[in-house]
Amino acid sequence: MNRILVTGGVGYIGSHTVVELMEQGYEVVIVDNLSNSNISVLDGIEAIVSRRPDFVNADCCDYVAMDNVFRSFPDICGVIHFAASKAVGESVEQPLRYYRNNTLSLITLLQLMQEHDVRHLVFSSSCTVYGQPDAEHLPVDESAPRKKALSPYGNTKQINEDIIMDQAHACASLQATILRYFNPIGAHPSALIGELPNGVPNNLLPFVTQTAAGLRKELRVFGDDYNTPDGSCIRDYIYVVDLAKAHVKAIERMLSGKAEEQVEIFNLGTGRGLSVLEIVRTFEEVTGQSLPYTIVGRREGDIEQVWADPHKANTVLEWRADTPIRDVLLSAWRWEKHLRNIKE
Ligand code: UD1
Repeated sequence: MNRILVTGGVGYIGSHTVVELMEQGYEVVIVDNLSNSNISVLDGIEAIVSRRPDFVNADCCDYVAMDNVFRSFPDICGVIHFAASKAVGESVEQPLRYYRNNTLSLITLLQLMQEHDVRHLVFSSSCTVYGQPDAEHLPVDESAPRKKALSPYGNTKQINEDIIMDQAHACASLQATILRYFNPIGAHPSALIGELPNGVPNNLLPFVTQTAAGLRKELRVFGDDYNTPDGSCIRDYIYVVDLAKAHVKAIERMLSGKAEEQVEIFNLGTGRGLSVLEIVRTFEEVTGQSLPYTIVGRREGDIEQVWADPHKANTVLEWRADTPIRDVLLSAWRWEKHLRNIKE
């Protein structure tokens, strides 16, 4: 039996990935300490796939607890490691917490993988490792230089990529796939799982849907004086379900022995950049909701524009993010309505 250990599997991208894995016939054990997620997500997963994944409430930094997980599930053949702290601003205020959580959890996992002879790892990285790519590197492919991280959070992604590289060098049996996500958005089409931001959302889409639902007075658009066609920042927004499917492809590629390098890196994006104002307009169009917004000053640390060259993932991983943005925005809105009990 093929079982995948999914750390952070109760979280946003993790839960969508668990659904895709289970739909493809994998057994899953989730390890999550619920520090930024809600246990009820397991009910949503079960309602979608008609099976409940195994779940262990543990911290990935806890060597003894994680050792028990590997002992209790000897059929684990691969690990997808999502569990991490991810709020940029918080990481600036509490750097030690971020360095500790994000690096120690990976180190613990790698050590246990070696001890239990589990060879395949998928690691959640981020396009944040590229910083603001120079104009000649846009769209950004995997060979673009990594830039000095702007936050401890971003730095932990770079450090973790390096830890994986070094461990692969030292441990010939380790096979890893590093996935650099662009901006994941949207929710499962069933509206049974989706993003559950804690408090006031930092990311654009949850703020948009909460504003449309009346929870927030207005969206603040951070800057319209950037060097972009409409002056607002440009990102590559990728549907979370497309993103989840890339993880299944990555695991399958390693399990079937197709991976060509010991550590493979893929950018996961659509290849298309959209501005904040384009997102606002398209959201209004497809949902029929008006979205009050106001232009405010730039957000510190924001990157002007970045979008992916996903050619390598398209060809090598045989994966493509092709869900139209209109459907993606609608899925986010359906999820928000489900959360707030808003009727049609
Ligand atoms: C942010 C993080 C990034 C992380 C990613 C995870 C920062 C600086 N970067 O990326 O490290 O990997 O989340 O998803 O926090 N916007 C508004 N109004 C809002 C919220 C956002 O105008 O209320 C704009 C932002 O200026 C940006 C775009 O929307 O141009 C997307 O913002 P966000 O969703 O926070 O993602 P990133 O900044 O790309």
